[in-house]
Amino acid sequence: MKGDDIRRTFLEFYRERDHKIFPSFSLIPEDPSLLFTVAGMVPFKPYFSGERPVEFLRAASCQKSIRTNDIENVGLTARHQTFFEMLGNFSFGDYFKEDAIRWAWELSTGPFGLDPERIWVSTYEDDDDSVQIWRDVVGVPADRIVRRDADDNFWWMGVAGPGGPCSELFYDRGPKYGDVEGFQDGDRIMEFYNLVFTEFQVDDEGHRIADLPKRNVDTGLGLERLAQILQDVPTAYDTDLLRPIVARAEKVTSRRYGENEKADVSLRIIAEHARAGAFLIGDGVIPGNEGRGYVLRRLLRRAVRHARLLGVDRTVMAEMVDAVVETMGEAYPDLAAARAYIEQVVTGEEEGFHQTLRLGMSLLDSEIDIARDAGATRLPGDVAFKLHDTYGFPFELTLEIARDAGLEIDRADFEVLMDEQRARARSDRRAKLDLTDSEALTRVLSESGSSLFTGYERMEQEAKVIGIVRAGEQVPSAGEGDAVEVVLDATPFYPEGGGQVGDHGVIEVDGARLEVVDTQRRLGDLIVHTATVARGEVHAGTPAFARVDPAWRAATERSHSATHIVHATLRQTLGEQSRQAGSLVERWPRRAHAVPSCCSRRSTATSCASSRSGTIRSSCAGERTSHERATSAWSRS
Ligand code: GLY
Repeated sequence: MKGDDIRRTFLEFYRERDHKIFPSFSLIPEDPSLLFTVAGMVPFKPYFSGERPVEFLRAASCQKSIRTNDIENVGLTARHQTFFEMLGNFSFGDYFKEDAIRWAWELSTGPFGLDPERIWVSTYEDDDDSVQIWRDVVGVPADRIVRRDADDNFWWMGVAGPGGPCSELFYDRGPKYGDVEGFQDGDRIMEFYNLVFTEFQVDDEGHRIADLPKRNVDTGLGLERLAQILQDVPTAYDTDLLRPIVARAEKVTSRRYGENEKADVSLRIIAEHARAGAFLIGDGVIPGNEGRGYVLRRLLRRAVRHARLLGVDRTVMAEMVDAVVETMGEAYPDLAAARAYIEQVVTGEEEGFHQTLRLGMSLLDSEIDIARDAGATRLPGDVAFKLHDTYGFPFELTLEIARDAGLEIDRADFEVLMDEQRARARSDRRAKLDLTDSEALTRVLSESGSSLFTGYERMEQEAKVIGIVRAGEQVPSAGEGDAVEVVLDATPFYPEGGGQVGDHGVIEVDGARLEVVDTQRRLGDLIVHTATVARGEVHAGTPAFARVDPAWRAATERSHSATHIVHATLRQTLGEQSRQAGSLVERWPRRAHAVPSCCSRRSTATSCASSRSGTIRSSCAGERTSHERATSAWSRS
């Protein structure tokens, strides 16, 4: 079965079971806590947490996804990729374990034609319900059901959000992929379908902190994995999803895939990173020195370096993008439409990297001379660090060149310097996120759960005060004149996001009145109102009445609509390849006292690409909530 057929078959199977089929959302998630869309469930997160009301109870999609935790292993192993397509079926408080398990089995052994005798399943260690369903409803023999602990069978996004125990399907691909005794998760007995029973709100480490309002299902079936199984090929790179791109890498490097393992690693890297890079650029990322831009830069540079290792000294990435579009453009028409723009970006980056290599090489050559003159056998780690940090010169390249000159590199020194730099980056990131009050808010979240956002339906909401934070401390009450952050169990106040500022308005609590001057989303699922107690005293645990200022909301909506009109006009005038990289969506006209929230609050890159309908939900990938928003940057090919 070809990759396209797998995609179609999966979506058709779930369409027939009343799932609403969604096209892939952007690789840039709406959720500000994530750098990339790492799974099919990411765009649906607000439906799992109950914060966005569901307009459909079941959904299915084929989601382009990126995971970057293992870049170094891409190409070296058969299994690692950064970019992959994830098929998923989702239930938002509708069906649960039994249907999810039954359908996964029916699909795998029916339309996908997998041999039932070769399927293994795993469950979370104490998930007796799933074991019982697999054994008694589906009929999987008990000795092919494996219970595993949270390390393997509890899934969450890797940051705070919805999560739960999971049950996976594995396929035994037979002895030609290795010898095994019993169950062994690997290249022979390969996982392909993960069913997550999303019942909990978890923190960044995956610890359960609250029950979700409803029990949900989130699944992930790796398209390349299943293609590998159904096409019975050793690696994802041998499937029809990637092989044509590897073939183009062969062409541009004049090397044959399968002749030499070292060259094969390079060919895989060139193909994989070209594919990931093309999709990232297509979704609006441009190479840079931090965040998403840095990841993209790293992928492109790694690909270029491997092309050079294979003896190529001209630019090749545009040709690689061409192969990516040829292979995937039909399934992803947006990618095909952006082809010229993507080719321009990769070529610019490639030329820049060649220049970097030239600069780095002259520094490295002189350091090698110094070391040799001193009779040393190794280069200090700080040389490699400086090359990496200042010139973007990859460590492996420094290592290889030094080795050719008969020198080792002090890797331990280099790692110490890298660790220090990572710690600095982490603390910068924390500072950027303004986590000064996060401990107090984490406590609110763990004691009372997340806040439900009701602002798509209403402007007023009865609620309960579930947390008050004053000067970074959680407090039981606050009095007149206090500046506080207040959390309600439900709120119609729109939290800043997708480039649109947070709502203003009033919260009334038992004779007290709070004036809300900003609303932000924190810790993934808390909606936090920044307010002043204008009158009376407010106590945690008491009923409240929250009212959005309708004039504020209407003015912000007008701005939002106007922004889209401007962007559409620019696209019409300059061409489809024009890309919006930032905009401020604020109320207009601004009130004399209105202070843009971005001046006082944390601000993070967000987008509302996955928002769908309603006046304040629109489709505006790439809008940013920071000072950068004040200017719109446009790039045009
Ligand atoms: N969201 C389920 C998975 O990625 O496996």
